[in-house]
Amino acid sequence: MVELLAPEKTVTPVSSASAPPLKLEGVTKRFRQGESVIEALRNVSLTIEQGQFVAIMGASGCGKSTLLHVSAGLTLPDEGSVLVEGADLTKWNDRRLTLFRRRRIGLVFQSFNLVPTLTAEENILLPVLTDGRKDLVATLDPLLERLGIAGRRKHRPDAMSGGEQQRVAFARALISKPALILADEPTGSLDSVSGQLICRLLKELCEQEGRTIIVVTHEPSVAIWAERVLVMKDGQLIGDFATGEFGEAEALAAHYQHLITASS
Ligand SMILES: Nc1ncnc2c1ncn2[C@@H]1O[C@H](COP(=O)(O)OP(=O)(O)OP(=O)(O)O)[C@@H](O)[C@H]1O
Ligand SMILES: [Mg+2]
Repeated sequence: MVELLAPEKTVTPVSSASAPPLKLEGVTKRFRQGESVIEALRNVSLTIEQGQFVAIMGASGCGKSTLLHVSAGLTLPDEGSVLVEGADLTKWNDRRLTLFRRRRIGLVFQSFNLVPTLTAEENILLPVLTDGRKDLVATLDPLLERLGIAGRRKHRPDAMSGGEQQRVAFARALISKPALILADEPTGSLDSVSGQLICRLLKELCEQEGRTIIVVTHEPSVAIWAERVLVMKDGQLIGDFATGEFGEAEALAAHYQHLITASS
C-alpha cells in the first residue's frame, strides 16, 4: 500500500527506542457482516523484543493477517492497546499513523499492493520520495542486487512473475530501513530457492542490523528460520515457543500440529 501524504515537518512521530518494538495488550477485533459478528482476534497479548525474528503460524482464517494489520495501525481494534516502540497506535489520527508507519514499519502484504502503472524501481522509491528522503535512493541498487531483482527494475508488475513482484514488495518495505518489519506470507508465491533467499535476508537483517521481523507463514521451512514461533487458533494465541530446540522443519511442524490438536 502506498500512502501519498506530503511530509509534514511539524508532526514528529513520538516513540521510545527503549520500549519494545511491538506490544499488544488485550487486543480484540470483531468484524460485523450483517447480523453475524466474527471475532478475528480474541484478547491477544504479546510482546516482541527488539531484534527478534518471529513467525506466526495458524490455519487459514485464524486471524494472522488481522494481527499484522492491527499491529501496523491499519485496523483499529475494538478493545486493547497496540504499542509500537511505546506509542499507542490506537490513540492516533490517520495522518500521524501514516507518517509513523512510513518511517518505522515495513509492510509486505499478502497481496503485493504494487502500483500497476509504475515500474519496479518507481514502486520501491515512491514511499521514500513522498517522504522527502532522497538520501535513501542510493541504497536502491544494493537492495535490488540483494533480492535478485536488479534485472527487473524497469518492469511493471504485470511483466513480472509473482515471486518477482513479492521481492519488489519486500524492497519497498525495506528501503526506508524500518525498525519493525511485518510480512504476510512473504514466501507464498516464491519457489523454494527464492523463499530461502528471502528467509536468509530476513535473518541477516535481524542479526546484523537489529531489525525486528514478524512473518506470517504456513510453511515450517520458513518458520524454522525464525527464533520464536507464535501459534494462533480461532483468534487466540495458543502457542509461543523458541525454534532453537528444533533442528529441522519437520520437528517444528510436528510440535505445531501437537499444539493445534491439544487445544481442541
Ligand atoms: N474486513 C473483514 N470483514 C469481515 N470479516 C473479515 C475481514 N477481514 C477478516 N475477516 C475475517 O476474520 C477472520 C480472520 O481473518 P484473517 O484474514 O486475519 O485470517 P488469516 O489467518 O490471515 O487467514 P489466511 O491464512 O487465509 O490468510 C476470518 O474469519 C475472516 O473471514
Ligand atoms: Mg492472511
